[in-house]
Amino acid sequence: MPRAAGRHFLQIPGPTNVPDRVLRAIDFPTMDHRSPDFGVLGKEVLEGMKRVFRTTGHVVIYPASGTGAWEAALVNTLSPGDKVLMYETGHFASLWQKMAKKLGLEPEFIAGDWRSGADPRAIQARLSEDKDQRIKAVCVVHNETATGVVSRIPEVRKCMDAAKHPALLLVDTISSLGSLDYRHDEWGVDVTVGGSQKGLMLPPGLSFNAISAKALSASKNAKLPRSFWDWGEMIASNKDGYFPYTPATNLLYGLREALKMLLEEEGLENVFARHQRHAEATRRAVRAWGLEVLATNPAEYSGSLTAVLLPAGHDADRLRKLILENFDMSLGTGLGKLAGRVFRIGHLGDFNDLTLLGTLAGVEMGLALAGVPAKKEGVKAAMEYLADCHRSPARAAA
Ligand SMILES: Cc1ncc(COP(=O)(O)O)c(C=O)c1O
Repeated sequence: MPRAAGRHFLQIPGPTNVPDRVLRAIDFPTMDHRSPDFGVLGKEVLEGMKRVFRTTGHVVIYPASGTGAWEAALVNTLSPGDKVLMYETGHFASLWQKMAKKLGLEPEFIAGDWRSGADPRAIQARLSEDKDQRIKAVCVVHNETATGVVSRIPEVRKCMDAAKHPALLLVDTISSLGSLDYRHDEWGVDVTVGGSQKGLMLPPGLSFNAISAKALSASKNAKLPRSFWDWGEMIASNKDGYFPYTPATNLLYGLREALKMLLEEEGLENVFARHQRHAEATRRAVRAWGLEVLATNPAEYSGSLTAVLLPAGHDADRLRKLILENFDMSLGTGLGKLAGRVFRIGHLGDFNDLTLLGTLAGVEMGLALAGVPAKKEGVKAAMEYLADCHRSPARAAA
């Protein structure tokens, strides 16, 4: 293939485009991770991450992809044979459930349709039946990256409280942290799992646990074997900004820069509003094409990605391939049982109105090349909505 000129459009729902200034922050000589300067950096990024998770509790940072932080959440809080209640929102919830099984836990999986979020009432009903309180944790994926569906965590918490059940609440925010409104403390979450490569605009390689006091206390008695993932040693070293083993120093330089952009320069509320605006513009484009958004409940629409269903007889992976070959844009593939049926548009991270319009133009041209019956009205619908948002900011907030 000849070189493609211009920037590749990386519009998968993570890893996302890394801003140039974050890349430049990473491109700096690696420092001694036991030096006084490193302690200052460590403290700064740990404090910044608490603000992103909206917690006053501990946050730990692993040199690992999100899967590592999933494992850390389970092995620090649970013991062999513990029952965990998990909800099948899609591919990623299924992977987390498989991991729980491999670790020697007993996951019970509430079946879902891969088009809606975790049903808080179904969780309440199951917990109410669990009279001898064998269920030790409820695990929910906040933003199911395979489907573009958000689970309503505050309602899940309310229903757990209504069932008067002491299970811990473990939540995966890998594709929502730094993109969608999320509040670890206020929503009563015990462990929140995050990753660097999506809303935080970093390369893959860092992942996080935010830890409630209740989860920390559970970790003292949890019996699953753990060493690398152990919160105890992490928290002890983190007190002075250090780590019990070599941290991903250069990614932490990048994290410091990304936190500055998100927290100080744009502000999290503006970041969230921007993601909602781009998600709404995308859904308008999808409908104007005459296609279907996979998510069925408007209260559960994702602000960070949109999964689009193709009409029967049309292969979403063929469409993606044509778009990649002709327009140098990567879109998300259909995962698990959605393979070939959906494609996913990532609209998260370092992303603005014109990036979205370029993305949607690539899709609209790709649909025509692939012979998918679609009206050439999507980009126009998105443009009209975005222009309206600038004319009347109240509309964007609605
Ligand atoms: C919701 C969700 N959970 C977990 C993961 C796994 O994270 P990683 O691939 O970084 O290990 C992903 C990855 O995309 C994800 O989107």
